[in-house]
Amino acid sequence: MQHASQAALFSLIGDTPLIEVTRIDTGPCQLFLKLESQNPGGSIKDRIGRAMIEQAEHDGHLAPGGTVVEATAGNTGLGLALVARIKGYRVVLVVPDKMAAEKILHLKALGAEIHLTRSDVGKGHPEYYQDYAARLAKEIPGAWFADQFNNPANPRAHETTTGPEIWDQCNHKVDAIVVGVGSSGTLTGLSRYFRKVQPNLEFVLADPQGSILADYVNTGVLRKDAGSWAVEGIGEDFIPGIADLSRVKKAYTIPDEESFGTARLLLQQEGVLGGSSTGTLLAAALRYCREQTRPKRVVTFVCDTGTRYLTKVYSDGWMVDQGLISRPKTGDLRDLIGRRHDAGEVVTLSPIDTLLTAFNRMRNSDLQQLPVVDDGGRLVGLIDESDILLHVTTEPEKFSAPVSSTMTSSLQTLLPSASMGHLREILDRGLTAVIHDGERFYGLITRYDLLNHLRRTLS
Ligand SMILES: Cc1ncc(COP(=O)(O)O)c(C=O)c1O
Repeated sequence: MQHASQAALFSLIGDTPLIEVTRIDTGPCQLFLKLESQNPGGSIKDRIGRAMIEQAEHDGHLAPGGTVVEATAGNTGLGLALVARIKGYRVVLVVPDKMAAEKILHLKALGAEIHLTRSDVGKGHPEYYQDYAARLAKEIPGAWFADQFNNPANPRAHETTTGPEIWDQCNHKVDAIVVGVGSSGTLTGLSRYFRKVQPNLEFVLADPQGSILADYVNTGVLRKDAGSWAVEGIGEDFIPGIADLSRVKKAYTIPDEESFGTARLLLQQEGVLGGSSTGTLLAAALRYCREQTRPKRVVTFVCDTGTRYLTKVYSDGWMVDQGLISRPKTGDLRDLIGRRHDAGEVVTLSPIDTLLTAFNRMRNSDLQQLPVVDDGGRLVGLIDESDILLHVTTEPEKFSAPVSSTMTSSLQTLLPSASMGHLREILDRGLTAVIHDGERFYGLITRYDLLNHLRRTLS
């Protein structure tokens, strides 16, 4: 029996709002966004979390004391964990290691047990997340493997809820739906529903560059050489068991840069905070809308909330590190700086700040070392954890001493025009290079920055 509190929370799953894009150019079309980010677990996957668990209970695969096991990029885990924990089940999830830290923290906070595995291995490898989860489900007594990639309750959730909601919210007038494919539950379920009510509706696939799905739709050829992509939750290196791609007439391959850039544009222009895959879907939807020669009504999804990507999609520093946005090149050492002081990206201290402030700022920014800058914006020192430790080990009250009392003032300064050889000399001694032209402090270069720079030159 369902408790009243369960019913209250479960009633918040689905019936998500549909809003129109008004400030981005959609060509001759009207483009609508279904805000799946408004589900209580923050994504479209709450729908299937509930549907798959209730079907398993109905079929006798899941009983009190049971364990829910799943391979998940995060959102399905969140949907399953939300429903399963409320119903009192143990939750064990296998999560690929490229997933945003926020999702993993959220899962753990819900009480799910996480097995982190490699994102860079494919089907058949023992560490491949789905094979790993299937193995765990066999090993744990009373466990049920949700298996969203093959579970018919997944597309059925979309056939019976997402599809009818869109149809009603569009007043039975909709020409195209732009979808991404992870497990393909959304696409397969919507295809089944719209076959009944609007057989002419066009499905458009938004696929991250590197996934094999768009090529398969456009050419019928199944590539074996999937690449990698940074967008989370969509794109595949195989065709999922429940996939029905027969109604997809057009597929767009979207590079990560465009996906991430479009997610940011959506926030800036429309005030909607979506995840990385929302960027892929919106980018494809915009391309489709702008290519049309007659007005159409098009729907796509804000698949999950962007709050779980604040340190990725919405962090300039992370975007630069990943090569997803680039600064204008200067052709000198400034191109290697991870966080630019002149762009306001560097966390700094003043010489009169206390060591406690220094330590708190390091903790908050997850950095071990901070530059010390005076009132005139001149770099006067560097302070790291060992400088603080040296001072406070025997006398903790020295946390109130000024930063200037223990910072390193003899800095390894290089002009932006200095050679890579000079930089290597400093880094090889375990030190940090300060890029400064006498007037201006541009930022620091650490070994991590050099590695990141070298990695970027590969792609
Ligand atoms: C983050 C995320 N997860 C999942 C999906 C949909 O995937 P599925 O094919 O599993 O229904 C999307 C769809 O766009 C998505 O953006």
